[in-house]
Amino acid sequence: MARKIVFTSGKGGVGKTTLVSQIGRKLASLNNRVLLVDADFSLNNLDLALGVENFVVYDLFDVLSGNCRIRQAFIKDKYEKNLYILPSDKLSANSSFSAQNIKTALLGVSKLFDFILIDSPAGIDNGFKRAVLCADEAVVVINSSFESLRDADKVINIIKSYDIDKVSLILNRARGDLMMSGYGVSAENVKDLLKCSLLGVVPDSDALLTLDGKKLSRLSSADKAISMICNKILTGRGDIYDPTLKYKGFFGSIKRSLRKSN
Ligand SMILES: Nc1ncnc2c1ncn2[C@@H]1O[C@H](COP(=O)(O)OP(=O)(O)OP(=O)(O)O)[C@@H](O)[C@H]1O
Ligand SMILES: [Mg+2]
Repeated sequence: MARKIVFTSGKGGVGKTTLVSQIGRKLASLNNRVLLVDADFSLNNLDLALGVENFVVYDLFDVLSGNCRIRQAFIKDKYEKNLYILPSDKLSANSSFSAQNIKTALLGVSKLFDFILIDSPAGIDNGFKRAVLCADEAVVVINSSFESLRDADKVINIIKSYDIDKVSLILNRARGDLMMSGYGVSAENVKDLLKCSLLGVVPDSDALLTLDGKKLSRLSSADKAISMICNKILTGRGDIYDPTLKYKGFFGSIKRSLRKSN
């Protein structure tokens, strides 16, 4: 049976969809069978993040309405043969489908996959609840702003009240240079403040920002950070990417002052 992991956040735009798509691709490249489910019915853009938006024929709406079988709605990724996407282009935030409807639909294919990653909408409304209740594990995505941390605190408490014990954090868009200068929150502080384990840290990266559905360069720091996250997902242990590393030492301090002057 697949491990069902929802990626969620209190604050919007912190990188859930980006991380679901890239972690999905990386897990698939490591020989895991992965299904990505777009459970963000209002701002659904997982198909865009993977560059497969032109291949959508059926979607989750058709599956839940009985218009097609679930496998007919799967789109195969362009790069990874073990990766499939279940889009939700025809659904809206007011859709009356429940978490139980989605869970039942996924149950039939759960044994075909090692991982089902679920992309949730931000916030704590019905859409968030629907997405989270489909999963057994949750990853809360945050950035280092204080708004994001406060929202994450609320989200974590709600998730725990749903009997999902395995909750972890990803600190996304981390700026090593700012962390070195004492701005924002550090990776160590995050897990103490939110009393939650840290699954990983992903740097603020132009490679991710300009991806447009293409394959992430293996040479990028983001790819390294995502590999480390996948290792932790697969083994339960391993190191966390340190975004401050390249700003340490003599050359690091030059990079930091160059970035500051931009
Ligand atoms: N580590 C990163 N470095 C640079 N840009 C990033 C990073 N992660 C995400 N982004 C960019 O941030 C923007 C928002 O990302 P994304 O759509 O994944 O957020 P989201 O949490 O899914 O948003 P929403 O709450 O609206 O669903 C996108 O332009 C994406 O390319
Ligand atoms: Mg999103």
